[in-house]
Amino acid sequence: MLVSATEALKKAKEGKYAIGQFNINNLEWTKAILLTAEECKSPVILGVSEGAAKYMCGFKTVADMVKAMVESLNITVPVILHLDHGSYDGAKAAIGAGFSSVMFDGSHYGIEENIEKTKEIIALAKANGISVEAEVGAIGGEEDGVVGSGEVADPAECKLIADLGVDILAAGIGNIHGKYPANWAGLNFDVLAEIEKATSPMPLVLHGGTGIPTDMIKKAISLGVSKINVNTECQLSFAAAVRKYIEEGKDLEGKGFDPRKLLAPGVEAIKATVKEKMELFGSINKA
Ligand code: 13P
Repeated sequence: MLVSATEALKKAKEGKYAIGQFNINNLEWTKAILLTAEECKSPVILGVSEGAAKYMCGFKTVADMVKAMVESLNITVPVILHLDHGSYDGAKAAIGAGFSSVMFDGSHYGIEENIEKTKEIIALAKANGISVEAEVGAIGGEEDGVVGSGEVADPAECKLIADLGVDILAAGIGNIHGKYPANWAGLNFDVLAEIEKATSPMPLVLHGGTGIPTDMIKKAISLGVSKINVNTECQLSFAAAVRKYIEEGKDLEGKGFDPRKLLAPGVEAIKATVKEKMELFGSINKA
């Protein structure tokens, strides 16, 4: 069964750990993340961008696949199926298809329009018993066509959006999607502390989890971050492992070309990355 993020993130915030959101792209990705969460007895959030949902034949296909997999793999830990960076229409569609959580990313609207649209999505989500993540201050970098410029959120705006009744708040604090440039200034912890003060006990989200040094991750969790999104890092470890398999000529040995063999090292690599993150975020044995 899928659950909303509200309860799990409330517990994470109180227990000073974070739950990882790992983005999925296909069956292999989903299976690898679910099996790792079960093995680690960790709650888990499966993130689906609109681009990834389209790739996987739509929200309904994704929701049905995840629900069926949770059942057939006997997954007992809390699993949250979450729309990542949803548009207004996308959030509505994901709710209709059976997602258990949605992010409505209204950060590119002016604050007033962001508020109006966020309120509508909240009402619809509440009627369906699911959680809503909102964003203030775009996250930098590019992800599936959603481009942000590395903004830092205004704590007063964060409070405005938090007070609308969202369950989770993503606030830009200098984080970006994808790899961090060599001259990256790091996370802005002063702003994070101010946002936490203004919005507590709201669970805060750190997007762009790939490549943030471990000490910064730990400090962010200590300052109120309860959800950390990781996408690119799983893609990089998957690609490196499949590349190694092919470069070693293993696809040419016997039936090494069988997709179940060819993709297996990639799946193992995703599992290792997810486990490492769960250890770092402190979510192991918290299910
Ligand atoms: P990364 O791809 O940088 O890990 O970011 C993931 C993310 O924030 C998804 O919303």
